[in-house]
Amino acid sequence: MLRMLAAASLIALVAASGPVQAQTDPLTPSGRWTAVARGAAKTPPMGWNSWNAFRTEINEDKVLGAAQALKDSGLAKLGYVYVNIDDGWWLKRRATDGRLIIRTAIFPGAQGEDGETSFRPFVDRLHGMGLKAGIYTDIGRNACSQAWDLHSPNLPVGTAAEREVGLEGHADQDLRLFFRDWGFDYVKVDACGLADFAPDSKLIATQGYRPREPLIVRKHPTQDASAQIEAMYARVSDALETYNTDGDYVLSICTWGRGDVRRWGQSVGNSWRTSADIRATWSSMLHSYDSVVTRPLYARPGAWNDPDMLFVGTGDFDVNHLTEARSHFSLWAMINAPLLIGYDLRNAPKALLDIWSNADLIAVNQDKAGHQAVLAYRSEDAQILVKTLSTGKKAAALFNRTNKPVEIALTAAQLKFADGAPVALRNLWSGDTSNFTGRKTFTLAPHETLVFEAGGQPRVAGVYLSEIPARIHVAAETPPPAETGVENEWTTYGGWGGPQADASPYSTGLSIAGKSYAYGIGALSQSRLEVRADGQYRRFAAAVGVDDVTRNRTDSVRFKLYGDGRLLAETGPVRAGDKAQTLTADLTGVKVVELVSLGEDKAASLAVSWGDARFER
Ligand code: GLA
Repeated sequence: MLRMLAAASLIALVAASGPVQAQTDPLTPSGRWTAVARGAAKTPPMGWNSWNAFRTEINEDKVLGAAQALKDSGLAKLGYVYVNIDDGWWLKRRATDGRLIIRTAIFPGAQGEDGETSFRPFVDRLHGMGLKAGIYTDIGRNACSQAWDLHSPNLPVGTAAEREVGLEGHADQDLRLFFRDWGFDYVKVDACGLADFAPDSKLIATQGYRPREPLIVRKHPTQDASAQIEAMYARVSDALETYNTDGDYVLSICTWGRGDVRRWGQSVGNSWRTSADIRATWSSMLHSYDSVVTRPLYARPGAWNDPDMLFVGTGDFDVNHLTEARSHFSLWAMINAPLLIGYDLRNAPKALLDIWSNADLIAVNQDKAGHQAVLAYRSEDAQILVKTLSTGKKAAALFNRTNKPVEIALTAAQLKFADGAPVALRNLWSGDTSNFTGRKTFTLAPHETLVFEAGGQPRVAGVYLSEIPARIHVAAETPPPAETGVENEWTTYGGWGGPQADASPYSTGLSIAGKSYAYGIGALSQSRLEVRADGQYRRFAAAVGVDDVTRNRTDSVRFKLYGDGRLLAETGPVRAGDKAQTLTADLTGVKVVELVSLGEDKAASLAVSWGDARFER
């Protein structure tokens, strides 16, 4: 309830200027596609970032060295064009006029003859190399290093006010400086300033920063002031539109899944972090991956889930662990993650360059349709991910999470191909080709991921909605009942309801009155999904009902289907245990289909399933 109230007050806050549209009842059909896409991230951003390689210990040689290596190695030609400076670049905020001053001891090229510091020469140099430039800041007053890297030689200096290098109170001024004056193309906006500087914290007592009441409450995600956080980021988005009038910018939101970013990240920025910082360990990589893999319905061209930067080359993914390194890279490619290399590229061995340079996997990640892979099979040990490509083919990844060999079967059904027709496979690591009909068994080495491009005959004349996640926009959702929310600071994103492809919002298989549906969309009641049909389809069909996972056996829900704002079909009230109802409608000429579920008791939260939901030609 509280979160719904927060959403309502947010509408009042940002309706005037922000990208979020005011709407009286979010469940009322919009009659159109309302997802907003700003900036320049039609495909997931690719490039390099300084953080995983150097933390705050950056300097001009390291960053320009990475840029040169991107050029020399051919990685830039493959799409790795962003060279992003992370935390550590600033000296202070000048007391007289609030201008940010660059630490010229590490970026000597930023010292201008006029006494002013500027990244303009640095950015021009990158542009001259055919690359793009990214910079880092924080949405609050202070940055993450000022809380977490106190040993760093590159922390801002001066009075408390001079050390306030984040955007809060200076958003317009700083973004104008970064984009209009210096010419940057990409900004990562972190959020420790809203999380770690609480009045009663040890940090405030020992470091003399100005206290900031947290809007992100580290230990209690339910207490995040999501509406305020969204409004602050929306302001950044607006400033980017103002100071980067050609729209060639990327806004990378870094709230680690917090502040309910799942709901608003897509309409405010181009990518949003979904988890804690990745570390160079297998378990940390799994954690980051798990925070994204159930969220394909939230991403599309211009808006990407961000499980954090690549750690290929380090720790569990170093040259002695190339199977793990390839798995990490394969998974990031499949889930449409930004591909940001986090390695000192001045000294990269060929074995690593070969991984980042896998053109087939890059093509999977950069496919223009922008459909994030959907889980087609999941066990504790292994998973199969399937991603629809713009060619009509599929990319399939078979992933062994464990350190033991695993046997796994890939089926035509998982690929949503016809059972009886041959499936042609091309292994995107080895290049080997093969064929199968129905199913084929593979043995995966410990931690191995096999990735195939697969061609076959579509299972339906048309498309299952779960095959086209980029064409689905979660326009309205309600949080699940409080008791299902896990009070764990890092599970917010992945753990709380939210519509899923081919699964219930609790990640179970879709099931209505004891009948399972391998395909479909699972959501909670009081949700509205917009789906782009673009006038390409003849008919909608689905078997709908309350999912068997629902604990609530008494309340009822109605399903409504709209086409361009007109009611096309609906059910009467249905309850848990009721047999699935068939919902069909003529879609001739329809551009936007909306799937709405309305609980009769609005406070009740039921899992609803749109089994086998599909567009037929
Ligand atoms: C946070 C972010 C990281 C990195 C550091 C910099 O932890 O999540 O990606 O930017 O801050 O201090």
